[in-house]
Amino acid sequence: MTRILGIETSCDETAAAVVRDGRFIESNRVAAQIELHRRYGGVVPEVASRAHLATMLPVLQEALEQAQVGWSGLDAVAVTYGPGLAGALLVGLNVAKALAYARGLPLIGVNHLEGHVYANWLVADGAVADGTPPFPFVCLIVSGGHSDLVLVEQHLRYRRLGRTRDDAAGEAFDKAARILGLGYPGGPAIQQAAEQGDRRRFPLPRAWLAGSSDFSFSGLKTALLRLVASLGQPLPVADLAASFQDAVVDVLVSKTVQAARDTSARAITLGGGVAANLPLRQHMAERSPVPVYCPPVPLCTDNGAMIAAAGFVRYQAGARSGLDLDVVPNLPIA
Ligand code: KG4
Ligand code: ZN
Repeated sequence: MTRILGIETSCDETAAAVVRDGRFIESNRVAAQIELHRRYGGVVPEVASRAHLATMLPVLQEALEQAQVGWSGLDAVAVTYGPGLAGALLVGLNVAKALAYARGLPLIGVNHLEGHVYANWLVADGAVADGTPPFPFVCLIVSGGHSDLVLVEQHLRYRRLGRTRDDAAGEAFDKAARILGLGYPGGPAIQQAAEQGDRRRFPLPRAWLAGSSDFSFSGLKTALLRLVASLGQPLPVADLAASFQDAVVDVLVSKTVQAARDTSARAITLGGGVAANLPLRQHMAERSPVPVYCPPVPLCTDNGAMIAAAGFVRYQAGARSGLDLDVVPNLPIA
């Protein structure tokens, strides 16, 4: 049995978790900073770093208490070292280094995006474990900072098929929510508003970028802005939210399904905050020719368990990081 402590501070969640054998969650504590950033309509890096500093140790303590595990019960410390906000990453990485050094535990640096991939391996403690995705599979990683389409050929072997050329999918949701006067974070707000809306009322542009697996969402954002400016008050917010969400989901699903076909992938997996989006999950399952795996909604957004899950695979492969490991804010997955 291998028990790994996972630490995550790449953006605005301070998170720590204990995961057994890369799958079974013994604890998973996440302190979100949404209230701190809400009035700015987005994450303010310096505010995030300071909040991580104040919250990291209590969150860590809670994670260890909830797992009912002492230091001697841990086999390694896994931590996100990129991509993300430099100042935010530094807090988690330095705490992880200090713990690893003081307790004589191996340190394992994890790519945050890899964490989103391995969220698909997680099982709540006590729950029955389903199967894991068969290799090779295509993973759509869509969050506030990233939109990457990745072929996972084997454990830890990634090939990037496409990425966004401008805004990330989650960023597009956040900007659209701001345009529509819906709060922050935008994804859940748009999804909720869209429930009462007609997604066919406003045909918004889809950037297909023919033949490419890249994404582009800035044109859609501009189109929404222009449309809103041309409409009178009160705005038909539900129909606008539904039409916007439909455009994003349509592109994400079409490109992911196409990539799965092109690469003869055996499954599609989702990861990242936008993977919490219900219509995205539903349409992907309906249109995919291969099985679709999505983490439970709370494990789509940033958490420590996914870092521990990815850390476990690296640990098994013999990967060990030195205490000179530094943050890499632009770390790519491949
Ligand atoms: O993975 P995550 O927690 O943090 C980053 O690494 O960025 O993703 C946060 C992003 C935000 O942009 C948020 O609006 C989006 O995920 N999000 C959603 C939903 N829940 C969160 N987007 C669409 N639908 C949702 N239900
Ligand atoms: Zn993330």
